This record gives sequence, C-alpha cells and structure tokens, in this order.
Amino acid sequence: MCLGLVPGILAGPRSRDCVTANADSPTDPVVIAIDGPAASGKSSTAHWVASVLGYRHVDSGALYRAATAATLRSSPSADSWTEGAVLESAANVTLSPRDTSFAPCIDGRDVEAEIRGAEVTQHVSRVAQMPRVRAWVNNLVRDAATRHDVVVDGRDMGTAVFPNATLKVFLIADPWERARRRLTQQMKRRPTDTEIAEETDRIVQRDANDATQTVQAKDAVLIDTTYLTQPEQVDRIVALARAVTHRGSEASSVDDPESR
Ligand code: DC
Repeated sequence: MCLGLVPGILAGPRSRDCVTANADSPTDPVVIAIDGPAASGKSSTAHWVASVLGYRHVDSGALYRAATAATLRSSPSADSWTEGAVLESAANVTLSPRDTSFAPCIDGRDVEAEIRGAEVTQHVSRVAQMPRVRAWVNNLVRDAATRHDVVVDGRDMGTAVFPNATLKVFLIADPWERARRRLTQQMKRRPTDTEIAEETDRIVQRDANDATQTVQAKDAVLIDTTYLTQPEQVDRIVALARAVTHRGSEASSVDDPESR
C-alpha cells in the first residue's frame, strides 16, 4: 500500500475563523506523537497522517511561534523580552479547531503566514527555552488531545508531554537532505549546492539551539526519512497507527482521495 500524493491535502485550514473547540470528544482519544529535529518533515507528515486517519493535527512548534509572534507585536525589540512578558502576550493565543487540525490564532485571527516569517524563526528558539512558556504550550496541546484523536508533532511530545502516547515516532534525516527539501519547498525550484550548503549550516545551528528539548523517547519508532518519499513515510506511520489502535481503514481510505 502506498499513498498517492493528493493535491491540497497539506493545504492550510479551510475556515479562517478562530472558534472555540466544541465538545466532540471521543471517550479515549488516540495520541500519535511525532518528534524530530528541524526540517525533518514532522509537521507536513503529521498533518497528512491526521488527514488520512480522520484525526486532528496539533503542531506544538506553531504554538511557540505564535507566542513569539504575539510578543513581537507588543514588543518588537526582542532584547527586552522576559518570560513574564512573553506569557502575557501568549495570553492572546488560542488553539482553534479546523477540519483536520487545531491551529493557533492571535486575537482570534489566523496567523499561519506570520508565524512562519523570518523574524519569528529568529527568536522562537529563545522563547521555547522558557519553562513557563513550555508549560503553557504543553497544557494547550494536552487539552486539545482530550477533545479529539490527535497527531501531535514537536520535539518532546513523546517524552515530556505524552509519555503514554498511543504511538511515538521519531523522524530523522540527513541535514543536507533536510536543507534540500526545505529550500525546494520554499523556492519552488531546484536549489544550488551552495544554497543547500548555507541552509545546512542554518539547520545544524537550529539543531544545536533546540538540542535540549529534542529527545527521542525510548519507546519511539525511529524512522530515517533520508531515502524515503513523503508518501512512504506517511504510509509507514499510518500502518503503525492502525496496528497499535486496532482500527482498520474505516476513517479514510488511503486509495480514495475523495474520501479525505
Ligand atoms: O518545529 P518548529 O521549527 O516550528 O519549532 C519552532 C521552535 O519551537 C523551535 O525552536 C523548536 C521549538 N519547539 C520545542 O522546543 N518543543 C516543541 N515541542 C516544538 C517546538
């Protein structure tokens, strides 16, 4: 069984309104935790896996990014940031349910483009080191997981946040390959070797910045995606999820794009 690439499945939320989660809680929600280093394809893979299984994707990194973006709005000079100031700004961040995800909003508005910007990327590592900010993110993610079956991705989902997750996966890939994929996605063309080398340096630096919290759980399934296509890695995780949840393919057929 191999998943075909389905146009639009990795697209953003259909609704732009940020609403409060409703009570569609399953009795015993499934948690699939996908961790790994920067640019290992966690988020796009997690989103796709969630779509296939009929779960919702929660990107914990997006919450650190939203807290950073909210702080930048109120205090553009990052040198002056304290943990208290970041938490105060983060109070304007909510996690809103979409068709296939829970997405962060600031003041009730979608912020996907803003949180992926260079300025947020520059400062987010520092924000993610703040213990009370980590506790705030972890609470939001855990709360989402009480409402719905979820695929959560980040650095410590299978360790600090969901030590009893139904399935834990740790994705790795060679830094050069991670850089090549990221640039190809951003530039929509084939990057040169020089561009890949420069991006590899940035990725290695980000790995170092986030090393403390990027932890592989002892019981995580390690998947090296260096030589896998994205459909192949999605396929593996979906198969593992179906095996551990004893749920078949009733949620969504991987061969039928119309059902997604
Ligand atoms: O995956 P990302 O680049 O969107 O993550 C943004 C930042 O948040 C990055 O510095 C790593 C950090 N992060 C973290 O410390 N713990 C998580 N669970 C998720 C992300």
